[in-house]
Amino acid sequence: MTTLDTVLDRLILPGYTTLGYRLRSRHWPANDPAPNSLHGKRALVTGAASGLGKATAAGLGRLGAVVHLLVRDAARAEPAVSELRKAQPDAEFIVDECDVSDLDAIRLYAQQATTPDILIHNAGVLPAKRKESPQGHELTLATHVLGPLLLTELLKPTARVIFIASGGMYTQPLPEDPEYTDRPYRGATAYARTKRIQVELTPLMATHFAPTTIATMHPGWSDTPGLTSSLPGFAKLTRPLLRSVEEGADTAVWLAATEPAPPTGRFWHDRRIRPTHYLPTTHTDPARLRAMWTYCQSASRIT
Ligand SMILES: NC(=O)c1ccc[n+]([C@@H]2O[C@H](COP(=O)([O-])OP(=O)(O)OC[C@H]3O[C@@H](n4cnc5c(N)ncnc54)[C@H](OP(=O)(O)O)[C@@H]3O)[C@@H](O)[C@H]2O)c1
Repeated sequence: MTTLDTVLDRLILPGYTTLGYRLRSRHWPANDPAPNSLHGKRALVTGAASGLGKATAAGLGRLGAVVHLLVRDAARAEPAVSELRKAQPDAEFIVDECDVSDLDAIRLYAQQATTPDILIHNAGVLPAKRKESPQGHELTLATHVLGPLLLTELLKPTARVIFIASGGMYTQPLPEDPEYTDRPYRGATAYARTKRIQVELTPLMATHFAPTTIATMHPGWSDTPGLTSSLPGFAKLTRPLLRSVEEGADTAVWLAATEPAPPTGRFWHDRRIRPTHYLPTTHTDPARLRAMWTYCQSASRIT
């Protein structure tokens, strides 16, 4: 199975689709989370009112966790929240409001938040034009990296922190200019660059936040509102092969619940550790990585 799994990974198209999920899930490792394995645990999922975040929240609820759904707008999230509660009347879903790209909003939120055992950084954006967060940071950097760093630092999750990255990061090296002022802006490039930053910083965050486990995963390609609105042509072309949201969220839920805890500081897809580079053009210069970590710590105000 390992050879087939690796071939699927390299060929991208079959691996990232529902075909890859179906083939691999026939041979999952035996450490499937036990029923009710998250009973007594508290989980927080950002961007939890749609797509993969909602499916992740549902998966954690099904395993018995109390799940905080962190959303930007509680009124807009209401239909999704009702659906989750209706599907699982015995589970506890709590709605929390916070914009994770806004460092001041995160500080306010953290003052009254309960420490979670599990924190899933799922909120994601792919803007068409360069936009800035309230503190003046490029929006994908603020949403995917700076906000999550500050939220983790302030909430101090006790067990596991999981970042939802993207296979798109394979196309980009670690950028020299994290704020993307160095060339004409392309949303898809900004998105892939900041997902690359998430993946590259994972081992450093693992040291910084130890003993909490830090894991980054990519979900393949899933049929979500985010994919349809940001890449409509791609979504239309690939729709029959896209993963369901449950398939896309599977590894995030598994990483949150499997025992023993997965090794910290690694990058995952379909329940396995994956390489972080396939292209010779993306290899990471250690000095650039150190500079990026210093920048992100300072910009997110965790140092
Ligand atoms: N779908 C895929 O194939 C795919 C592939 C690779 C990676 N991913 C990653 O998976 C994650 C979920 O994406 P999705 O496809 O499920 O898209 P989605 O349906 O658009 O979900 C993204 C969620 O993030 C929320 N969000 C965005 N910015 C936020 C902020 N500043 N504060 C709080 N919440 C915020 C959105 O809330 P609003 O409704 O308020 O905008 C939305 O609920 C993202 O990180 C994405 O990069 C997805």
